[in-house]
Amino acid sequence: MERHVEPLAYPIPSDEALEPPAEWAELRGRCPVAPIRLPSGDQAALLTRYSDVKQVLADPRFTRDLGAAGGARVAANESGGVFSSPMSQAIPQDGEDHQRWRRMVGRWFTAKRIAALRPGIAAMAEQLIDAMVDDGRPADLRASLGFPLPVWVICDLLGVPESDRDRFSHWSDTLLNLTRYSDQEITEAQVEFFGYMSRQVAARRADPGDDLLSSLLTETGPDGKGLDETTLIATGLGLLVAGHETTANMIGKMVAMLLADRTRWERLLADRSLVRVAVEETLRYDANSGIGLPRYITEDVEVGGAVIPRGTTVMCSMAAANRDEEAFEHADEMVLERSPNPHLAFGTGAHSCLGQALARTELQTVLEVLLDRLPTLELAVAPEKLERVDGLVVGGLRAVPVRW
Ligand code: HEM
Repeated sequence: MERHVEPLAYPIPSDEALEPPAEWAELRGRCPVAPIRLPSGDQAALLTRYSDVKQVLADPRFTRDLGAAGGARVAANESGGVFSSPMSQAIPQDGEDHQRWRRMVGRWFTAKRIAALRPGIAAMAEQLIDAMVDDGRPADLRASLGFPLPVWVICDLLGVPESDRDRFSHWSDTLLNLTRYSDQEITEAQVEFFGYMSRQVAARRADPGDDLLSSLLTETGPDGKGLDETTLIATGLGLLVAGHETTANMIGKMVAMLLADRTRWERLLADRSLVRVAVEETLRYDANSGIGLPRYITEDVEVGGAVIPRGTTVMCSMAAANRDEEAFEHADEMVLERSPNPHLAFGTGAHSCLGQALARTELQTVLEVLLDRLPTLELAVAPEKLERVDGLVVGGLRAVPVRW
C-alpha cells in the first residue's frame, strides 16, 4: 500500500447520476490498494480491481466482524448503525456459527422457494402500479413502487401484518442512514424494533403460522440446536436492513438506467427473454452499493502485488470492480445481453447475498409488469437531471420521475 500518500477522502462523490465516480479507472491502474479516510476520520485501504475484491471477499482471513476486531469505524455515530450495533452482532459474523446460521435462514431463500413467491410479488407490483397510475402523471417511481415493494415482501416473509408495513419502512430507513439520523433516533428505532419483534415472536410461539419467523422458532441446525430469541430478532432486522433499501434503490435505478436510453426499453419490449440478462447488467453497471464492503485483517496478506499489513481495514468496492476492463469487455458500456456476467453486486464468498434469488425475482418481476402495463413509460426529466444519493451502505436516486 502507498502509505506515504495522503489518504483520499472517502466516499468519492460522483458528478453523474447514473455513473460511478470517474476516479475508479485511474485508481485501478495507479493505486489498486489506495489509502482512504472514512467519514469517521479513521483510515482504511480501498480495493478497486475485480480480482483483488474477489480475492479478499473469498478469503476467510479477512473478517467482517470489524467491531470485535477493533477495525476502523465507518461513520462517527456508528454505535447504533448496521455495521457494529450489538443487535446486528447477534448474528454470528464469521466461521462455523455463521455458516450454521446461514444454512438455517438460507432454507427460506432457495431458488425453488423464491420462485413460488413470484406470483405474489407480481400481484404486489400490479397493486402499486395501479395506485401510481390512479395518482396520475408524472409520478416518482422510486417512491410509488421501488420503496414499498421490497418492504412488503419482507413483511410477508416474516408474517408481519399489512398494517405494520409503514413502521418497518421507517425502521429500515433509520437504521441504514447512519449520517441522516442522530444516535438517539437510531437507538430509539432499535428499541422499538426489538420490542415489536419480541411481541411477534411470542405470538408465533403461541400460534405458529406459515412464515419464516414461525419456522425459525422450531428449526434446528445440524447440531440439533435452534436460534435463540435475540438471534431470531437480529435475523429479522438483518433481513430488513439487507433487503429493503438495497432492492428499493435498485428498482428505481434499474428503471432509470433502462429508460435513460429508450432503445434499451424498446429492445426489452420486443424481446422479453432479455429481461433476466438485462437485470444482471444493470446490477453490474451501477448497483449503487454505498461505500463497498469493509473487512479487517489480522495478518499480513499479499493482494494485487502489495502487502496489506495486519490491522488494516480494507474497503472492497464492488462498484469499481464491476467496471474493471480486465474482467468485463467494454466495462463502461451497458450491454443488455452480456452473458456470462459474473458481477459482484451481491458480493461473493461466505457472506455473499443470502437474498440474491429474491432480489433478482423482485427486479425481474417489476420489470416484466412495467413492460406489460406501461409500455410507453419514459423518464419525465432528462437523465442528467436525475439526482444521485450516495448513502454509506446503499445509495440510489433521490427520485425517478416518470410519465407514460
Ligand atoms: C448480504 C447486496 C437484496 C439479504 C449482501 C451482500 C451484498 C448484498 C453485497 C454482502 C455483504 C458482505 O459481504 O458483507 C444486495 C443487493 C440487493 C440485495 C445489491 C438488491 C438488489 C437482498 C434481499 C435480502 C438480502 C432482498 C433478503 C430479504 C442479505 C443477507 C445478507 C446479504 C441476509 C448477509 C449474508 C451473510 O452475511 O451471510 N447483500 N442484497 N439481500 N444480503 Fe443482500
